[in-house]
Amino acid sequence: MSNTDKKLIKVLKGETVDRPPMWLMRQAGRYLPEYRAIRAEVGGFLELCFDPVRAEEVTLQPIRRYGFDAAILFSDILVIPYALGQPVRFVEGEGPKLDPLSDRGSIEALNLNGAVERLSAVLETVQRLSGSLPADTALIGFAGAPWTVATYMIEGGSSRDFLTIKRFALEQPEAFQRLIDIVTEATEAYLIAQIKAGAEAVQIFDSWAGVLDEVSFRRYALEPARRITKAVKAVFPDVPVIGFPRGAGALYADYAVETGIDGISLDQTVPLKWANSALKDVCVQGNLEPLRLLAGGPDVEAETDRILSAFSGRPHIFNLGHGIHKDTDPETVTRLVARVRGT
Ligand code: CP3
Repeated sequence: MSNTDKKLIKVLKGETVDRPPMWLMRQAGRYLPEYRAIRAEVGGFLELCFDPVRAEEVTLQPIRRYGFDAAILFSDILVIPYALGQPVRFVEGEGPKLDPLSDRGSIEALNLNGAVERLSAVLETVQRLSGSLPADTALIGFAGAPWTVATYMIEGGSSRDFLTIKRFALEQPEAFQRLIDIVTEATEAYLIAQIKAGAEAVQIFDSWAGVLDEVSFRRYALEPARRITKAVKAVFPDVPVIGFPRGAGALYADYAVETGIDGISLDQTVPLKWANSALKDVCVQGNLEPLRLLAGGPDVEAETDRILSAFSGRPHIFNLGHGIHKDTDPETVTRLVARVRGT
């Protein structure tokens, strides 16, 4: 099947199709027993990301089980700090831990040279997947957006209040801009390399875009996404880019237009009617509340129907508003798939 016949690619190019294509953020992960079995075979989580055979296998698991319209490469956004030379580890039950960058010196010590080469194992996973996926399944590559990746690099892990990074950005704007520029440049090269290896669309995850004020949002979320999209499209003008500025609220509208992206991933707080009036000429993706899927119950069908009917007649990719929760029952996902497919 030619790439442009795949449903996910079609809607990203502005076509409407009989039923919306679907995939779920974090569709490969701990809610699946077959993922937990593979995860138990390796030590650290990053080891799994850098093991092309196992990473290929866990990417394929949700495709085998549910027949989603797209597979998302199994990796993590924090491979970029790793590739830039900042040590990253994942501690069980605590999430990611990084040796935090604290000053201009530690930012200048990051090593852009050869960063993509240090991710060759991930690119090998992409290459393997482009040969092993079903003919009608699209392959999505991804990277974290510079702001979100920088939060982990400066906070040293997950943050509650983003106090350290906000102070850094506001008190040392030049040094912070340098960090954003370095991550932006690495991300451009990394996404282009993923497409060369076989990714058919790419998503930029800005999970923490929603904590920024308007000025900082434009500078650190919108502008880097615009630059990354422009760099990707200079090499691959036909490859769709999906942006996910989670929590951006009303700023979703300017982000969708000014970045030049093809698809916009909506978190669950975005009202459907507002999305239809404010987000034109772009494919919408989303936006079921992941915890409704966790809770199960008849709400799953009701809320799915409400989203499907609001976005019927416009290019739409059915997805969640954020990643699937690890305690979700895989059988509830089976129900969701049946509802979206109308089977
Ligand atoms: O199926 C997929 O969506 C593809 C794989 C994927 C992972 N992480 C695997 C993963 C993707 C696209 C990501 C993106 C990611 N990683 C984001 C952006 C999207 C989002 O959820 O907001 C962020 C912020 C990260 C950083 C990250 N990775 C954190 C904070 C954690 C720990 C939190 C947790 O859930 O434990 C991870 C670990 C991680 N990344 C896991 C998976 C399956 C779980 C770890 C494990 O299996 O041991």
